[in-house]
Amino acid sequence: MSTQKRLFSGVQPSGELHIGNYLGAIRNWVALQSQFECLFCVVDYHAITQPYAVDDMQPRILDAATWILACGVDPEKATLFVQSDVPEHTELAWILNSVATMGDLGRMTQFKEKAEQQASVNAGLFTYPVLQTADIVLYKAEVVPVGEDQVQHLELAREIVRSFNGRYGQTFPEPQPRIGAARRILGLDNQFKMSKSRGNTITLSESAESVMAKLAPAVTDVNRKRLKDPGDPEKCNVYTLHTHYDPPEVVSDVAEQCRAAGRGCLDCKKILHRHMVADMAPIQARAAELKAHPERVREILAAGADHCRAIARETLREVRDKMGLNRR
Ligand code: TRP
Repeated sequence: MSTQKRLFSGVQPSGELHIGNYLGAIRNWVALQSQFECLFCVVDYHAITQPYAVDDMQPRILDAATWILACGVDPEKATLFVQSDVPEHTELAWILNSVATMGDLGRMTQFKEKAEQQASVNAGLFTYPVLQTADIVLYKAEVVPVGEDQVQHLELAREIVRSFNGRYGQTFPEPQPRIGAARRILGLDNQFKMSKSRGNTITLSESAESVMAKLAPAVTDVNRKRLKDPGDPEKCNVYTLHTHYDPPEVVSDVAEQCRAAGRGCLDCKKILHRHMVADMAPIQARAAELKAHPERVREILAAGADHCRAIARETLREVRDKMGLNRR
């Protein structure tokens, strides 16, 4: 038995990962896998709450898993699996639906934002955070690395856990969020969170040329209109990317030169480009290797699901018992 605390995190199967997923989540996962007993999940049941093409789903799942592994998640150290391979996620979600309140769910900003964007809102979008809670507590995970936008969902998860424990007896620990260094990665528009649907991303699979083609027109500090205008790095999303990719002494030089109007934005982007491409190259090489052997990825996912099913079955047995749902 492991004495490490258990950690759970999930990512939507949006296919190839972009640097927002990488800096905001996956790079953090890689760092955490030696400190915690990690379960990493591709959450396909969450993804179906948004419109999608049926034929795309399996490639998206396999691609996401491939890139997660390519980034350095190591199946020897951590468990990687697909949510729908463990049916207990949805079973527990239904149970927790009877604990979560409409009032709490209605306050979720992510729900409100998503609901605003569509004419017809499915109930799954509303209870999305309940499934997320089930993901975590199914394994009694205590640590949940997430981006800032998920903190509210984690607060709700703790509320649901308290209600459940209060009603049926102490069962689940209250999961704590763990926010990574990259709290919120903006897209190249310097305006919205980086996301595939906004088209403001750089994907991990992109060539060096293509990365430069995207960085070149990326919005910087809008007040720096000419080379001789001093800039404010804190208002520049390209600078944020520098802080995640460059060594510290380069980051301070970049900030200094920006404030002193010493270097133009394009030259500054070339420095970022160099570090970014160097970071991406080994990931791309590993992804190419895995893509040549998709059966390896499938095997890793199958083993991950086996491991998780055993834990999940045990939790559900305990939960049903406490709720008077087990025939004796
Ligand atoms: N909702 C999360 C996101 O969009 C993904 C997710 C699903 C998740 N289940 C989770 C994250 C459980 C952490 C723990 O980013």
